Amino acid sequence: VSYRDLTAHMRRISSLSHVSAIVGWDEAVMMPTGGGEARAQAMSTLDGQIHAMATDPRVGDWLQAAKREPLTPEQQANLREIERGYRRATALPQDLVEAISSAQLRCQQAWRSQRADNDWAGHEPLLEEVFRLKREEASALSERFGIARYDALMDSFEPGMQSARVDVLFSALEQTLPSLIEQVIARQARETLYKPQGPFETAAQRDLGMRLMASIGFDFEHGRLDTSHHPFCGGVPDDVRITTRYNEHDFTESLMGVLHETGHAKYEQHLPSDFRDQPVGMARSMGVHESQSLFQEMQICRGRPFMEFATPMVREAFATHAVAQPLAFTPENLTRLYTRVERGFIRVDADEVTYPLHVALRYRVEKAVIEGQAEVADIPELWHEHMQRALALSTAGNFKDGCMQDVHWPSGAVGYFPSYTLGALIAAQLFEAVHTALPELNAQIARGEFEPLNAWLDTRVWSKGSLLSTDALIESATGHALGTDAFLRHVKRRYLA
Ligand code: CO
Repeated sequence: VSYRDLTAHMRRISSLSHVSAIVGWDEAVMMPTGGGEARAQAMSTLDGQIHAMATDPRVGDWLQAAKREPLTPEQQANLREIERGYRRATALPQDLVEAISSAQLRCQQAWRSQRADNDWAGHEPLLEEVFRLKREEASALSERFGIARYDALMDSFEPGMQSARVDVLFSALEQTLPSLIEQVIARQARETLYKPQGPFETAAQRDLGMRLMASIGFDFEHGRLDTSHHPFCGGVPDDVRITTRYNEHDFTESLMGVLHETGHAKYEQHLPSDFRDQPVGMARSMGVHESQSLFQEMQICRGRPFMEFATPMVREAFATHAVAQPLAFTPENLTRLYTRVERGFIRVDADEVTYPLHVALRYRVEKAVIEGQAEVADIPELWHEHMQRALALSTAGNFKDGCMQDVHWPSGAVGYFPSYTLGALIAAQLFEAVHTALPELNAQIARGEFEPLNAWLDTRVWSKGSLLSTDALIESATGHALGTDAFLRHVKRRYLA
C-alpha cells in the first residue's frame, strides 16, 4: 500500500517535471524575448512545487513502510532510487538551497557579458560566492552521507562515483595522451584536407540532419529537431526535443552536433516504458547519458564505415557544391575532417583525443577549490599551468578562452565535468564489446543497417534505466570494469594504426 502511494506521488512529480521540461524547451526555442520575465516567474513557481513534493515528509514515511512490503527486484530498485532522491532533496537546509540558487543566477547572468569582455576582475567576486556556497553544500552533504566533500557534489551527476577512482582514471589519461597527441598531429600534418566551401542553406542542412537521424534510429513519432542558441537534448522520453544551430559556412559542425544529440535522444526514447514515470525508469547517470551521445558521435558517426554510408546523402543535400568540389565530398576526406586532432583552448570545440585533458584540468581545479587547497582567486594561474602541461598553451591574461569559457561553474554545476570523460571511456568499452558481439558491424554501418547495433544497445543499456548501479551496468554490458584501456586502444587504432 505504501509502495503504491509512493509511486503515485512519484507519478505526480513526474507529470510536473514533464511540463517543466517542455516549458524549458519552449523558452530556449520558441519564446519571444519579451516573455522572459513572466516565464522565469512561472518556471520558478513550478520548480518550487516540484521541490515541495519531492521533500514532502510523507515520502519518508512511505519509504519506511514500503521496505516491509513484498516487492519485486524492479520495485526494490525503484525504492532505492526514490530513497536516494529523497535523501539528497532533504539533506540541505532550505535557506542554503535558496542562497545557492540566487548566487548561481546572478553569477551566470553576469558571466554572459563578463566572458565576452574578458572581465575576470568583475567575475571573480560572483564566482567566489558561488564556490563559497558550494563548499557549504559539499560539507553538509559530506556529513550527512559520510562521503568526501567533492564526491558529495559529483554524486548528484554520477551516483556512487568517488574521486579516488576518477584520480586513477584521469592520471592514466594525463600521462598517456600528451605524447599520443604529439604523434597524431605529426601524422595528420602530412594529410591533405579539403574543406567544403559554402554557403550551405540552412534548410538543406536541416533536411540532411533529419534524414540521418531517422536512419540511425531517432523516432520522429516521439521527438523533434529544432533550432536554439545552445544545442541540447530536452523534453521527456515520449517526446524528446533535440536542438542544433546552423552555420551557413560550415555544415559539418551542426551535422555532427545533431548526431551527438540523437545519441542522447535514442537513450531517452528507449528507457524502460514500464517505469516511465518512476525514478528507476530514468537515465542512470550523466556519464552514462554522455556515453550514449559519444558512442553515437565519436565511435560510430565519425568512423569511416559511417562516412561510407552518409557521404552519398551529403552529396545529394549539397549537390552543386559536391559537383564543383569533388575532392571535398568523399568518405575519405569527410572522415579526415571529422577526426582532425588539434591543441585548442576551447573544450566544446575539442576533438576526442584532447578532450579528456580539458576535462581533467577542470576536475583538478574545481576539486582543489571545493577541498580548500585552492581559492577562486588562484583559478586563472592554475588553469594556465595545467594548460601549459597538458596542451602547451598559455592562457595568461586570456580568461575568456581560459577559466571563463564554460557556463558550468557560474551556474553552480560543480562536480559535473568528470561525467564527460567517464562517458567517453564507457563509450569506448561499449564499442569494443559490440564489435565482438556483432562481427559484421562495420559492414552493417556502411550499408546503413543500424537495427542490430540499436538492439544490442537497447538490451544492454537503454532498457535498463536505473535498475542497476553504474558499475554493474558497465560490467554487464561490456564484460569489464570501468577503465581507460578501451579508450586508449580506440585512440591508437583510429589515429595511429
Ligand atoms: Co552530450
